[in-house]
Amino acid sequence: CCLVKIGPSILNSDLSNLASECQRMMDAGADYLHLDVMDGHFVPNLTFGHPVVKCLRPKLPDVFFDMHMMVAKPEQWIEEMQAAGASQYTFHYEATEDPKTCIRKIKEAGMKAGIGIKPKTPVEVLDPFIDLVDMVLIMTVEPGFGGQKFMGDMMPKIAYLREHFGQIDIEVDGGVGPATIQQCADAGANMIVSGSALINSENPRETIRYMRTVVEE
Ligand code: DX5
Ligand code: ZN
Repeated sequence: CCLVKIGPSILNSDLSNLASECQRMMDAGADYLHLDVMDGHFVPNLTFGHPVVKCLRPKLPDVFFDMHMMVAKPEQWIEEMQAAGASQYTFHYEATEDPKTCIRKIKEAGMKAGIGIKPKTPVEVLDPFIDLVDMVLIMTVEPGFGGQKFMGDMMPKIAYLREHFGQIDIEVDGGVGPATIQQCADAGANMIVSGSALINSENPRETIRYMRTVVEE
C-alpha cells in the first residue's frame, strides 16, 4: 500500500568517515538515512548528537535525515536537532511523560514526527498518537546496539498497525537484512531500516535492490 523506503543505519559503520559512509549508502540507492542518537540513559550506549548532524547536513544537503532519538526526555533536543538539519524526529514512547506535547513541539519546529516503541512495550499504547504522527517505529531489537538478532515475534505489532490504521508509514528497525526482510514485508512494514547488513554488504546496491523488491511485491 505505502511507498517503500530503505533507510540505512550507519551506527555500525566507520564513524570516523561518517559523511562518506552516508554518501556510500545513498549512492547504493538508499531513500533516506536513519541516524541513531543515544544518550547513555535511555539506552546503555552513546553515539552522537546535534553537533554531528550539523556538520553532516552540508555534505548531504538533500538527504532525508530520520533522527532515531534513543534519549531520555526527548523534548530536550527538538530545537537543536531542527537547527542542525534534521528532517524527522523519531522519539520513544517510553522516554517521555507526555508524547502528545512532544509531537506538537516537533511539528511546531517544522520537522516530521515519528514515535517508536521498544520490544517489551505493547503496540496498543500507540493508538492515541497514530493520527498525530508521520511515522511509527517498531523496534525488532532492544535499542542500544547494532548487529543484534532480529525479533520475529514483533511482527504482530506491525500487522496490528497495518490492519487498524491503514496507510500509515511503519518503520522496522533492528536486525533487518536479506534474511529477515520477508517477514517485515509480510507484516506490512514499508520503511525499512537496515544497519550492519548494508554496511557490511559486499554489494550494498544489490542488497538494497533485493530488499526493496521483497517489500514491493
Ligand atoms: C539499535 C538501532 C538500530 C540498529 C540497526 O539500537 O536503533 O538502528 O543500529 O542496526 P542493525 O540493522 O545492525 O540491527
Ligand atoms: Zn535505530
